[in-house]
Amino acid sequence: MKKVNAILNNPVYLDHIEKNIGEEKERSFCRHHFDHLLDVARITYILILEEGNPFISREMSYAAGLLHDIGRWNEYREGVDHASYSAELAEPILTEAGFTAAEKGLIKKAISEHRLKDESSKHRSPLSLALSRADSFSRLCYRCEASKMCRKFDRQPTRNSLKY
Ligand SMILES: [Fe+2]
Repeated sequence: MKKVNAILNNPVYLDHIEKNIGEEKERSFCRHHFDHLLDVARITYILILEEGNPFISREMSYAAGLLHDIGRWNEYREGVDHASYSAELAEPILTEAGFTAAEKGLIKKAISEHRLKDESSKHRSPLSLALSRADSFSRLCYRCEASKMCRKFDRQPTRNSLKY
C-alpha cells in the first residue's frame, strides 16, 4: 500500500480534507471528512473483489475512494461540480504517489463519474461503478438524524439497514 500511504501523507491531500471539514462545520447532512473517504475506499475494494475484477488493484480502489470528494469544499465556496473538480485535484496527488498514466486515467474517470446514477452506460468502468455504489453504501442512512429532511433518503440503499 505504498502509493496509498503516499496519498495519505501528501500535505496537499490533507489540506483538502481540512478545507472540507471547515466548510461542513454547520452541515447536518452527510459530511465529507476522512472517515467517509476511507469508508468509500474500503467498500469500493470489497465490491471489486466481489465482482472478481482482476484488473483493478487494491491501490487503485483505495485511491479512488480516498480522493473522490477532495474538491467538495469548492462546491460550497464557488458552486463547482465537486466530482470533476476532485478528479482535477487528484491528478498531481496521483502522480506524486507513483500511479501510472493508465491507472490515473481510470481513477480520475471514476472520480469524475461518482455522482452519476445511470449504471447502464457502456462507457463506465468497473471502478467507476464500484465507486459510486460504495459512496451510497457507506452512508448509515437508517440511523441518520437528518433523514427526515434528506431529499435523497428514499433512494438510499441503506435507508433500512446496513449493507457493507
Ligand atoms: Fe461526492
